[in-house]
Amino acid sequence: MSSHSSSAAEHADITATREWSALVAHHREIAPLHLRDLFATDPGRAEAMTATGADLVLDYSKHRITRDTLSLLVALAHRAGLPARIEAMCTGAHVNTSEDRAVLHTALRLPRDARLVVDGRDVVADVHAVLDRMAGFAEAVRSGAWTGHTGERIRTVVNIGIGGSDLGPVMAYEALKDYARRDLECRFVSNIDPTDLAETLRDLDPATTLFIVASKTFTTLETLTNAGHARAWLLAALGDQAAVTRHFVAVSTDAEKVRGFGIDEAAMFGFWDWVGGRYSLDSAIGLSLMVAIGPARFAEFLAGMHALDQHFRTARLEANLPVIAGLLGVWYANFFGAETHAVLPYSQYLHRLPAYLQQLTMESNGKSVRGDGVPVKSATGQIWWGEPGTNGQHAFYQLLHQGTRLVPADFLGFAEPHHALPGEGAADMHDLFMANLFAQTAALAFGRTAEEIAAEATPAALVAHKVMPGNRPSSTILAPKLTPAVLGQLIAFYEHVTFVQGTIWGVDSFDQWGVERGKVLANRLVPVLSQNGPDPEDLDASTAALIRRYRALRGR
Ligand code: F6P
Repeated sequence: MSSHSSSAAEHADITATREWSALVAHHREIAPLHLRDLFATDPGRAEAMTATGADLVLDYSKHRITRDTLSLLVALAHRAGLPARIEAMCTGAHVNTSEDRAVLHTALRLPRDARLVVDGRDVVADVHAVLDRMAGFAEAVRSGAWTGHTGERIRTVVNIGIGGSDLGPVMAYEALKDYARRDLECRFVSNIDPTDLAETLRDLDPATTLFIVASKTFTTLETLTNAGHARAWLLAALGDQAAVTRHFVAVSTDAEKVRGFGIDEAAMFGFWDWVGGRYSLDSAIGLSLMVAIGPARFAEFLAGMHALDQHFRTARLEANLPVIAGLLGVWYANFFGAETHAVLPYSQYLHRLPAYLQQLTMESNGKSVRGDGVPVKSATGQIWWGEPGTNGQHAFYQLLHQGTRLVPADFLGFAEPHHALPGEGAADMHDLFMANLFAQTAALAFGRTAEEIAAEATPAALVAHKVMPGNRPSSTILAPKLTPAVLGQLIAFYEHVTFVQGTIWGVDSFDQWGVERGKVLANRLVPVLSQNGPDPEDLDASTAALIRRYRALRGR
């Protein structure tokens, strides 16, 4: 299957359907209800509103829904053609319509014995051929068989990439640090702010440093600029052009451009145009992660993703984790008018997860036309943000608890810690940590009434300040432990949440034309900023004035 996968369902105005109208009416009934009452009148809801998939448990009972809500949302998903869309994506139809491309990140984690023929080629064989080459290279670096130009073993791997070629690798490296070799550090350079490269390299020894230049297109200004300076830094120390072959490898879809940079094909790990940048961590873009945790752990990570893919493809929509979570996001974004969605991992190892999810969700669903180019009639992609608990509790949770805005949130927690340390009294430290997660979701949902507060002999003038309105929705996602497999499941979960929402909104979740425009403009402005560049005459008055001021400040 290789053609466009446009269907009537995809391009219908979803807000004009009777399923949407039913949800508008249902929202009018639900909006005045409080979670306190919803729990009081339905004692079985905690159990009924808990779903499992692979190792993940999703408790969605603390949402402003009744048992009818999910059926109505699922009816909307059927109206949007979700089951057919899932199959279309996973079998290689060109669901990225504006770029006429298949979207096959799920193929990157198919087991070796699977077969998926797309556009006449078995992509599984191609995927595993690259994985095998990556594994050989990763083992060589880890064992010391791959040495630098002077014969010394590699001590630091620096991944140079940006967007999907950075956020996934750095997030997963941080998340799985407990599985990584500690005598082989990975660092990540992304920003074209010269500070990023300078600070990353300042204490490194060129003889023991390996660069992975990660760029799908191999045209990205930030990455090529940083890579060029990194090469100059290396050559300034080692003096021999031949050193590049021992200290630079590339990950890209464009062999010719990689060769143009001076890295030959033997040192290149490829992937394909059907892997979107923000969906590419499980392609060769994950090479730094594989070097860090080893091929076997990387295989566990892929198997975790595949397990969640299977769940997504086979579980009925009412019991399907990404479908439930995706539809709840639609419920708040479109019927309650919630602008944002918080991700609150109770794991310090997941401190880069919110940044990773920002690209995944916002670059995917931050669109205002449907796949057929017609303007959408509903709000689309929410603003995703977050920080690990408990740090966030001492920063922005005040607004979550008592502010005027509705912020649905995902709380992520793990039963087993990576480090068993004693806490206060009899509790271990991980129990203290998890007690905070459970306490926050309960406080958000149920709040505290003025009566409860007054009953504690609170001075009358303070009662209003202490009232916790409650009725603030959250999901709790629990897993046994943050292993490579569980991280894989979590990432696949959020990829599919994004897909479910994009399908309801009818947008192409796999292009990013808005980002492209910024790149073109920046390139146009580069010469204008420089010493002998043209005066910024044809620019708007504000930008022209700012550039003149900048030039003056730099003495130009
Ligand atoms: O930020 C826009 C974007 O195109 C992302 O989608 C992509 O992940 C990133 O740039 C980097 O692109 P590349 O991997 O081609 O360097």
